[in-house]
Amino acid sequence: MASITSFWFLLLSSLTFLFSATSDSPPFENFLHCLSNYSSSSISKAIYTQNHPSFLSILHMHTHNHRFSAATAPKPLAIVTALDESHVQGTVVCAKSNGLQIRIRSGGHDCEGLSYVSDVPFIILDMFPFGSVDVDIADGTAWVQAGATLGQVYYHVAEKSRVHAFPAGVCPTVGAGGHFSGGGYGNLMRKYGLSVDNIVDAKLVDVNANILDRKSMGEDQFWAIRGGGGGSFGVILSWKIKLVFVTPKVTVFKVRRTLEDGARDLVYKWQLIATKFPEELFIRVMHDVIMYDTQKAKKTIQVTFIGLFLGKSDNMLSLVDESFPELGLKKSDCIEMPWINSTLYWYNYPIGTPIEALLDVPKEPLTRSFKTMSDYVKRPIPKSGLKSMWDFMIKSESVRMEWNPYGGKMHEISASETPFPHRAGILFLIEYLTSWGQDGVEAAGDYLNISRSFYEFMRPYVSHSPREAFLNYRDLDIGSNHPSNVTKMDIARRFGSKYFKNNFERLVRVKSRVDPHNFFRHEQSIPPLSH
Ligand SMILES: Cc1cc2nc3c(=O)[nH]c(=O)nc-3n(C[C@H](O)[C@H](O)[C@H](O)COP(=O)(O)OP(=O)(O)OC[C@H]3O[C@@H](n4cnc5c(N)ncnc54)[C@H](O)[C@@H]3O)c2cc1C
Ligand SMILES: *[C@@H]1O[C@H](CO)[C@@H](O)[C@H](O)[C@H]1NC(C)=O
Ligand SMILES: *[C@@H]1O[C@H](CO)[C@@H](O)[C@H](O)[C@H]1NC(C)=O
Ligand SMILES: *[C@@H]1O[C@H](CO)[C@@H](O)[C@H](O)[C@H]1NC(C)=O
Ligand SMILES: *[C@@H]1O[C@H](CO)[C@@H](O)[C@H](O)[C@H]1NC(C)=O
Repeated sequence: MASITSFWFLLLSSLTFLFSATSDSPPFENFLHCLSNYSSSSISKAIYTQNHPSFLSILHMHTHNHRFSAATAPKPLAIVTALDESHVQGTVVCAKSNGLQIRIRSGGHDCEGLSYVSDVPFIILDMFPFGSVDVDIADGTAWVQAGATLGQVYYHVAEKSRVHAFPAGVCPTVGAGGHFSGGGYGNLMRKYGLSVDNIVDAKLVDVNANILDRKSMGEDQFWAIRGGGGGSFGVILSWKIKLVFVTPKVTVFKVRRTLEDGARDLVYKWQLIATKFPEELFIRVMHDVIMYDTQKAKKTIQVTFIGLFLGKSDNMLSLVDESFPELGLKKSDCIEMPWINSTLYWYNYPIGTPIEALLDVPKEPLTRSFKTMSDYVKRPIPKSGLKSMWDFMIKSESVRMEWNPYGGKMHEISASETPFPHRAGILFLIEYLTSWGQDGVEAAGDYLNISRSFYEFMRPYVSHSPREAFLNYRDLDIGSNHPSNVTKMDIARRFGSKYFKNNFERLVRVKSRVDPHNFFRHEQSIPPLSH
C-alpha cells in the first residue's frame, strides 16, 4: 500500500511539474497544462509522455504494421488514451490552441500507419479504452464505441442472439472507429451491403469540442462520416448500428485448387458468376504462391475458394452444382455452424475454437511489415491475363491477392448514398498484399518495388478514369499530402477521385463547413476549400 501511495505521489508531483507551464512555454508543455485544466481529474492516468515507463508498450499495443513502428519511426510527443469524453474534448481543444496535430487511433490497422505516425510533431488520441458494445436485441440495434473491435461486436451480439449479426470485416482485431469510417466490408456484403449501409446514428466530438449526434450534426456530416474516411470530420466516439438477420446455421467451406488442378478455368468462371449468385452466397478467392511436388521444389499458384452461405449445406450444394459444377464442391467440404462460429472459421481459427477468441487482442507487437494496394474489376480478366498475372506472382513470390465479389445489395445501393462509390458495375475488389519480416529500409524498398510493379502490371485489367481504390486499403502511392499545414487540393483530388469518385466534391463541401481551418488532417484527409 505504502509503495503504491508513494508511486502516486511521485507521479502527481511530476505531473504538477509538467503542468506548471506558462504562455512562454513550448506548445507541448502548454498542451499538457491546458489538458489538465480542461479535462476531468482522471486525465493524469490517460497521458503517456515519452518518458513514461509504459510509453512504448501503449504505443505498440495497436501498431499493426511494423513498417511504421520500427525504432526509427517518428514517435508522438504523447499518447492520450481516452478514458472519458472530456479527454477527447480536451485533446481537441488543447492541441488546436497550441498548434499541435493529432492522430486518432481506434484499432490501429491503418495500412499506412496514419493513426500512429507522422512527420510533424503530433499527439496520438488513442480510443482503445472506449470499447463498449451495448446491444438492444428488442430494437435490433447496438451502440458500439469507436475502440471496440469487430470481434467484440460480433461476440456481444451473439451473446444476445444467434440469428443477429453485423456486416463488417473478417479480421476480428480491426477497430470500429477506423473500419466504419472507411466503409467496412465483409462476407455479408452481398446480402446486406457495407457496415456504413447499416449505421443509423453516431456520436462525435467536432473541432469545437462539441459532442454531436446525427440530429445535431445534420445529414450532410452524418453522410460524410459513413465512408468519407476517419480523421477528417471529427473524433468518432460511437456508432449506432442496425443489426441484420442470419439463419441459425450457416454453411462454410474452403476448397483449394492449384494451376495443375485447373485453377485457371475455375477462376475465369468465378468471374462470370460470383456476382450473380443469390445474395446469400459469398465466395472469396485467395491467390497464393506455394511450393509443390515431393521435393517442394516447384512453385505454383494455389487458389482458395472460401465460401459462406446463409442457409443449409444441401441448399448450397444444389445451387453450386447448378451454376458452378466445375468447382467440384463435395458435401464433405461443407460445414454447418452458427454464424458466430463462422467468423472464427473465416479468420482461420481451427474448428472448435471457443468464441471467446473473438475478444483476443494481440499480446505482442506485430513484427511483420506490409503494403496493401487495391483495384476494382469491371470486366472479367481473360484467361491469358490470368496466366501472365500468376507468372508475375510466381516470379516475385511475395505478392498475394484476395478477390471479393460484389453484386447483390452492393449493386442496388446508389453510388452517392454514402461516400463509398464502388457499387453497380463492379465485379470484384482486388486486395494486393505484400508482406515481409525483415527490418530496415532496404528490405522495405525491395518489397514496395515489387508491390508497385505488380500494381502497374495489372493496369490493363482493372477500372480506369479513375482507377478506383478502396479507402480501407489505404495506399499513399495514389496521392498524398504532407501533414504540414498546407493541404493541396490538386493532390487531394488525385486520391479523392479514386476513393470517392464524384462524392469527393460533396466531402470537400462538408469539410469546408465543419472544419474550415483543417484541424483534422493527415496525408489523405479531405481538405477544406480555402486551403
Ligand atoms: C489485418 C487487416 C485486415 C483487414 N480486413 C478488412 C476487412 O475485412 N474489411 C475491410 O473493410 N477492411 C479491412 N481492413 C482495413 C481496415 O478496415 C482499415 O485499416 C480500418 O481503417 C482500420 O480501422 P482501425 O480503427 O483498426 O484503424 P486505425 O488505424 O485506428 O484508424 C484508421 C483511420 O481512421 C482514423 N480513425 C480511427 N479512429 C477514429 C475515430 N474514433 N474517429 C475518427 N477517425 C478515426 C485514423 O486516424 C486513421 O486515419 C483490414 C486491415 C488489416 C490490417
Ligand atoms: C484553466 O481554467 C481556468 C478556469 O476555467 C481558466 O481561467 C484558465 O485560463 C485556464 N488555464 C489554461 C492554461 O487553460
Ligand atoms: C460454436 O461455438 C460454441 C461456443 O464456443 C461451441 O460450443 C460450439 O461447439 C461451436 N460449434 C461449431 C459447430 O463449431
Ligand atoms: C526500385 O525500382 C526503381 C525503379 O525501377 C529503382 O530505381 C530502385 O533502385 C528500386 N529500389 C530497390 C530498393 O530495389
Ligand atoms: C503554416 O505554418 C507556418 C509556419 O510553420 C506559419 O507561419 C503559417 O501561418 C501557417 N499557415 C496556416 C494557414 O496555418
